[in-house]
Amino acid sequence: MTRKLAAGNWKMNGTSADLAEVETLLQNLGGVQTDVLICPPATLLHRMSEMASDSILATGGQTCDAKLSGAHTGDLSAEMLKDAGATYVILGHSERRDDHGETSEDIREKARAALASDLTAVVCLGESEAQRDAENTLDIIGGQLAGSIPDDVTADRLVVAYEPIWAIGTGRVPTLEQISEVHDFIRARLIRRFGETTGAQISILYGGSVKPTNASDIFAVPNVDGALVGGASLKAADFIQIINALDAA
Ligand code: 13P
Repeated sequence: MTRKLAAGNWKMNGTSADLAEVETLLQNLGGVQTDVLICPPATLLHRMSEMASDSILATGGQTCDAKLSGAHTGDLSAEMLKDAGATYVILGHSERRDDHGETSEDIREKARAALASDLTAVVCLGESEAQRDAENTLDIIGGQLAGSIPDDVTADRLVVAYEPIWAIGTGRVPTLEQISEVHDFIRARLIRRFGETTGAQISILYGGSVKPTNASDIFAVPNVDGALVGGASLKAADFIQIINALDAA
């Protein structure tokens, strides 16, 4: 069995005033069975973690450095995220791969650091529109998966997120068949690499324009164990609907 996870990625959004949304969310999580995560900007991580400490809401970072400490101005280690209350960290988001030139090898090193600090790594994979048009999607996903995930993962410390780049922030969502094809492929690769038990237990999230209106359909797709939600995680009223849809799936 995989664990279901509704994860919000706030990206570079949110100041103190937006913690009111977290307050509202916390008031609406009673009875929710699925795991819930928000990865706020690092400036809000500690405060959000304190707010959520008696709840099912987990918090996480949006990236971390592969190194433990040292002269790396502006960077944060996995241990620092952990110290601020995080239990997860998103790694290899396409915006990091594109904006900061992160390679799959870099992401694997960061994932090793995350695991060493006892954080769960949410490793993101996704093809560009040009790669999909050229029918290279599965090759790209397979390569990113092989390169970005360390060998010594356990199912409770790794989550994989499939986020087609062309679906992020665009309102364009793949067909359910397209989502199904990629998620089945990821599941098969995880089983091939990590064995029947571990490979079958790693949660696979879909991300890219998930909204309250399409969440239930997406969660009905086999091997979709949850969502990595950007824009719709910023407002509690939207995110709670997505969480409830996952709970009901
Ligand atoms: P949107 O939900 O805003 O499309 O963002 C998806 C995403 O990139 C989450 O990591």
